[in-house]
Amino acid sequence: MKSINDISFAGKKVLLRVDFNVPVDEHKNITDDTRMRESMPTIKKLLADGAAIIIMAHFGRPKNGFDPELSLAPVAKHLSEMIGRPVLFTQDLLGDKVTAMAAGLKAGDVMLLENIRFYPGETKGDVALAEQLSKLGDCYINDAFGAAHREHSSTAVIARFFPNDKYFGFLMENEVRNLEKLMQNPQRPFTAIIGGSKVSSKIGILENLLDKVDNMVIIGGMRYTFTKALGGKIGKSICEDDKMDLALELMRRMDEKGVKYYLPTDSLIADNFSNDANTQLVPSNQVPDEWESMDIGPESSKMLDEVIKASKTILWNGPAGVFEIPAFSKGTQAIAKSVAEACANGTFAAVGGGDSVAAVKQLNLADQMSYVSTGGGAMLEYLEGKTLPGIAAIMD
Ligand code: 3PG
Repeated sequence: MKSINDISFAGKKVLLRVDFNVPVDEHKNITDDTRMRESMPTIKKLLADGAAIIIMAHFGRPKNGFDPELSLAPVAKHLSEMIGRPVLFTQDLLGDKVTAMAAGLKAGDVMLLENIRFYPGETKGDVALAEQLSKLGDCYINDAFGAAHREHSSTAVIARFFPNDKYFGFLMENEVRNLEKLMQNPQRPFTAIIGGSKVSSKIGILENLLDKVDNMVIIGGMRYTFTKALGGKIGKSICEDDKMDLALELMRRMDEKGVKYYLPTDSLIADNFSNDANTQLVPSNQVPDEWESMDIGPESSKMLDEVIKASKTILWNGPAGVFEIPAFSKGTQAIAKSVAEACANGTFAAVGGGDSVAAVKQLNLADQMSYVSTGGGAMLEYLEGKTLPGIAAIMD
């Protein structure tokens, strides 16, 4: 992988694609700027080299061109504060004004193009749009891992106009290296902890990981499809009846391959979906009618702590329960703490996927994980074994 570290961008106009699709509150204040912070090393390196930077980014999913709600203006302001210099923000994406602005950039200037998805061609991977964008700069750097699963004009197609001048930024390089370490050369035992509400959204991951892991821990709402398929009573717990055969098939394949799988043995159940609901701890396969499982219980947390601490490599994707509600967050918290302790003892642990990342951040444990991915869908697709267009376009 050609690292930008080995290259000087002095005097160049660099087209940099980032993923600044960050959460904002109702006043458009950025509530979590992790993705922006993670791209700072790339931006700082380019500025230190004496490059001018033209940043391309998207925000949300605009449907019909310009939408003031989805403007990158708040991001431009935040970026300017982060880098301590002005950010030229273009209200247009392309056209004479933008071309003139780009042409006039000097070393150390930073320009942010307005939400690139205001151009409908972007999400269609329009080649003409990619070509127009390419004309603004001398080279292309992709640092947008979060959007690497999209074959869009600015994330993938544009790279073909820079056959000898296309690179990964540091964020991308870091994501790719960590994911390769995980999937291609894991130290064993390798444990995957997969949660979330639906089996259907995790089928690809479960199938791809079958050949790679030693232990598979299945948590979250999706585990009840497995429990019911095994004949357990799950009350009103979330279940995809049409995926029960698949659950049985996955367990059969894990047995065949010698993958040990773990389903939580006890559950915290509630009589309604609220923080002050009545709760009980029961065996996971004996949930009474009218009750719903919200979290794993302490016996399961203890079992998982042992599995986690005996692992040399861990992938964690998806929470154990409804962790956004404090009363149901203990199981996810316990896993996060066990993983952090394992990391302190030399285990390599990668955390990915919106909810598990939110959980480790909420607990202030993100810094204690070996690696927290900035990608949601992108990481999921990588773990499913798919080729990500944003990565392939640079590797070609
Ligand atoms: C994300 O937030 O996961 C990325 O920015 C990709 O966004 P998208 O799912 O709208 O393509």
